[in-house]
Amino acid sequence: MLGRVLCTVLLVGALPSPAAASQGHISVILLGATGDLAKKYLWQGLFQLYMDQVSSGHSFTFHGAALAAQEEGQRLMFDVLKKLSCPPDEPPNRCAVLKDQFLKLSQYHQLKTAENYTALNREIETLLGQEGLKEAGRIFYFSVPPFAYTEIAQHISSSCRPPAGAWLRVVLEKPFGHDLESAQQLAAQLAGFFREEEMYRVDHYLGKQAVAHILPFRDQNRRFLDPIWNRHHVERVEVVLKETVDAKGRTSFYEQYGVIRDVLQNHLTEALMFLIMELPANVSSAQEVLQHKLQALQSLWGLDRSSAVLGQYQAYDSQVQEELQEARGRVSTTPTFAGVLIHSDSPRWEGIPFLLTSGKALDERVGYARVLFRNRAYCPQSGSLRDAGHSQCKPKQIIFYFGHGALGTPAVLVSRNLFQPAMPKDSWKEAEARSDLHILEQPLSDFYMYSPVKERDAYSVLISNIYHGRKDFFITTENLLASWAFWTPLLDSTSRQPPRLYPGGVENQQLLDFEMVSGGLAFTLAEPAELLSPSRHMPSDFRAIQSKFRQSPLVSAWAEDLISQLASDMEQAALSSVARSGHFHLALSGGSSPVGLFQRLARHHYSFPWQHTHVWLVDERCVPLTDGESNFQGLHRHLLQHVRVPYLNIHPMPVHLNQRLCVEEDGGAQLYAQDIVALVANASFDLVLLGVGTDGHTASLFPRSETGLEGAPGVVLTESPVKPHQRMSLSLPLINRARQVFVLVLGKGKHDITTLLSRVGHEPSKWPISGVSPSSGQLVWYVDYEALLG
Ligand code: BG6
Repeated sequence: MLGRVLCTVLLVGALPSPAAASQGHISVILLGATGDLAKKYLWQGLFQLYMDQVSSGHSFTFHGAALAAQEEGQRLMFDVLKKLSCPPDEPPNRCAVLKDQFLKLSQYHQLKTAENYTALNREIETLLGQEGLKEAGRIFYFSVPPFAYTEIAQHISSSCRPPAGAWLRVVLEKPFGHDLESAQQLAAQLAGFFREEEMYRVDHYLGKQAVAHILPFRDQNRRFLDPIWNRHHVERVEVVLKETVDAKGRTSFYEQYGVIRDVLQNHLTEALMFLIMELPANVSSAQEVLQHKLQALQSLWGLDRSSAVLGQYQAYDSQVQEELQEARGRVSTTPTFAGVLIHSDSPRWEGIPFLLTSGKALDERVGYARVLFRNRAYCPQSGSLRDAGHSQCKPKQIIFYFGHGALGTPAVLVSRNLFQPAMPKDSWKEAEARSDLHILEQPLSDFYMYSPVKERDAYSVLISNIYHGRKDFFITTENLLASWAFWTPLLDSTSRQPPRLYPGGVENQQLLDFEMVSGGLAFTLAEPAELLSPSRHMPSDFRAIQSKFRQSPLVSAWAEDLISQLASDMEQAALSSVARSGHFHLALSGGSSPVGLFQRLARHHYSFPWQHTHVWLVDERCVPLTDGESNFQGLHRHLLQHVRVPYLNIHPMPVHLNQRLCVEEDGGAQLYAQDIVALVANASFDLVLLGVGTDGHTASLFPRSETGLEGAPGVVLTESPVKPHQRMSLSLPLINRARQVFVLVLGKGKHDITTLLSRVGHEPSKWPISGVSPSSGQLVWYVDYEALLG
């Protein structure tokens, strides 16, 4: 059927010519074709793609897919397609013809079983064979919940890949995990089916015209911006998304995510990166853009509890109770409002505050990213000159306005007292300077203001970029993990913090105003008593519980208190060791759990004897030390660069020798073992800090590992089930020689393994952590309440 239609459209259709398919055929498969996102944006975006590319030389077919049976799915999908609208700039006749063709080129498929996928593949092949068309590529758009990703990915990879010579692009929608660990897991699963260049992770903010124009703007205005885009001239950078809607109807999603995961970790961070990243020489090079963005993310200074203010609108709790049928009296600590203060340690931005703010149930809907410049002018006289837009005394700023709010359209605004920007005339037009309208409390007449010639919805922009293979409009795995690595410590440290309650809407008044105080953020006004419900009071002075876990001492508390206890205990161990032997040999693990600890040690423990401390690695991933995945790199970023450990006392694991990674013959593991024997008396570390994986691994010793679980104490190369697969690790027997071993276990995700470990005995081949048992030293467990109690 589609074959006949395609043929008719190609030969008889009013617009495409018979040569239209000379570039080959593209099949677009929209999974979740009858869902909300598809209804609201994706079909319209695909129709726009068809309208834009109908003469591109490619031919298209569109396959909507869902779990619903053929007839019902078909009906639901065509109900949506019939309502597709024509953009105002499109001649109505052309649009009507194209819409008719688009509908004919679209078909519904039930995609549920492996056979369904094979059948789809067969259909595409048959169609192309019948029409004598060459296949250019296939786009699979996953508009489905992430729990369905792996199964669909498996089906596509095994039975729906296009033949050699044609490309595959799979498009994924957030959430991509809810913290670093889950994002790593999801990324590792997807990497089992798709190559990095085949994956397009969507952040729809990257398709918003004002966000997409940040880099081109910086590029086209280098002449003006080069001298001032730095810490000497910028006062601060803000990225804001205020919403009037609340989370009603979505609490099952929202309760698991909250505002930081929902919009700060992704949309607002992405916009911030475009503002603060070093500008690539070629802003059209996806590779350069992605590389610079990653570097900007990695330059951010770690966050802790004092970096954020959190709020929750008052009705949220009852909405959760109603929608999730939660017991009355259960208190949610999910934030619906957050302000976060971020700093970068790059030379360009050191010391400059970046503020990210977002909230539900606020007084207005508006989103923008702005750079506010310092103002050195002082104007003692009022008067007409002072009031004119060009006055040096007015605030100086550049605003990338995402849409909504007073303007109602995306816009780029530059204060008239800065410069008149260069803007591409074909895509941005100068708007009238109206003084009756205000933006961020300034009359519009104070700005040069530009709005898009053609307003395009973010999804249409992104779909067009998928078609063009523009990877810089999407989130790479590295980018995603770097972003989670940055946000996870804040999420962990605030997970139990009761947010400030706010009534919602204009009634919030000044209740959510916050300010920068002593390197962090704090609400300006005290929380009024009537908003506090008594059940929300959390014990504030609870002590870390002390008891036993697997017959060893256990310290347990909420994560933040646990980390501060652990940091103090480590400092104490270091001081005693230096008093006893003159040194402190400390072996540290990598991963996300210790990040908060490293930051705490770097910021709060000024008596720590770093001068006499040797820092060793418990394990390392076989990647270059400059790689974001490297444990050493994380340790350096969060701790070593901020404290004064003598250079020669720092001992990264030699995973990179002879310009290759972890090759047995290079003997890296033996070299490390020799260094330990040479420097650490009796090869007995003063303190080893370990973590536990959800599978019971510790260090890089995984269940059923062939090396490292027994035998002589040493350093070994091991295999991890998740990427990067090759690792180097201290062996269990070497760990067990330590004077002290501290094990840190954080987060709900570790509850199952913690429960299991409380029951099992010594079975290192199943759960390597269960083999940790210092022969003459002491073992202490630091387990937070979430891991312990779930
Ligand atoms: C989504 C979030 O990603 O972005 C929503 O899940 C939020 O909670 C939305 O409302 C904001 O997008 P926009 O385009 O309306 O600003």
